[in-house]
Formats: sequence, C-alpha cells, structure tokens
Amino acid sequence: MDEEAIAINEGAELVKANCLTCHSLSSKNPSPRTDAPSLDRVLANYNSDSLADDFREGVHVGHPDMPDFDFGDRGTDEVIAYLKSIEKPE
Ligand code: HEC
Repeated sequence: MDEEAIAINEGAELVKANCLTCHSLSSKNPSPRTDAPSLDRVLANYNSDSLADDFREGVHVGHPDMPDFDFGDRGTDEVIAYLKSIEKPE
C-alpha cells in the first residue's frame, strides 16, 4: 500500500471511532444527528486546507455539540485524507 492509501485507512478508523455517532458517511443515509451533514458532503462547504488547520489548532468546527478533537498533525492529515477520498461532487 502506498502512503496515501495507508493515511486513508487510518483516517477511516479515526472517523469510525469519532464521527459516526452523529454524522453518516454517505448522503444516501440520514445522519444519526439529523442536523449533522453527511461526511461525503462536508468538504463541499469547507475547504479541506482550512478544515485541516481548524482541526490541527483545536479550533471548534461546526456545532456547539460537536466535541473538539485533537488528532495531532498526523491524525488530522489522515482524517482529511479519508474525507477527501469519500467526497462526492455536488
Ligand atoms: C456529537 C455529535 C458530533 C460528532 C461526534 C461530530 N460531529 Fe461534526 N457536526 C455535528 C453537527 C450537529 C454539525 C452541524 C453544525 C451546523 O450545521 O451548525 C457538524 C458539522 C461538522 C462540520 C461542518 C460542516 C459544515 O458544512 O459547516 C464538519 C467539517 C464536521 N462536522 C466534521 C466532523 C468530523 C470529521 C467528526 C469526527 C472527527 C465530527 N464532525 C464529529 C455533530 C457532530
């Protein structure tokens, strides 16, 4: 596996563990939290670089209910790599 594929795999695990209680992965399925957008759509309204910076700096993303995450540099890149890999064009 190349590095990109490894990052996507790791990111998938982080997302599974941290995000899917509220967000669905695909816009085909409703999110557990109906006010949370599906994760294949979040990059449509959120530039992936600024999202990476926000996560990296522990800036609050999204919603008051959404926990603040600290994945570290590597984990952040992995989560973003994964979100990019599942992104659906509008
Ligand atoms: C406790 C529930 C919860 C968890 C866990 C959660 N989120 Fe969210 N998230 C939300 C809600 C609700 C919104 C909608 C915020 C709004 O529209 O104001 C949101 C919004 C977002 C947005 C902004 C979308 C936009 O268009 O502005 C991003 C990006 C995001 N979440 C990513 C993630 C990622 C990545 C994870 C896991 C690391 C995660 N969320 C975990 C509830 C959650």
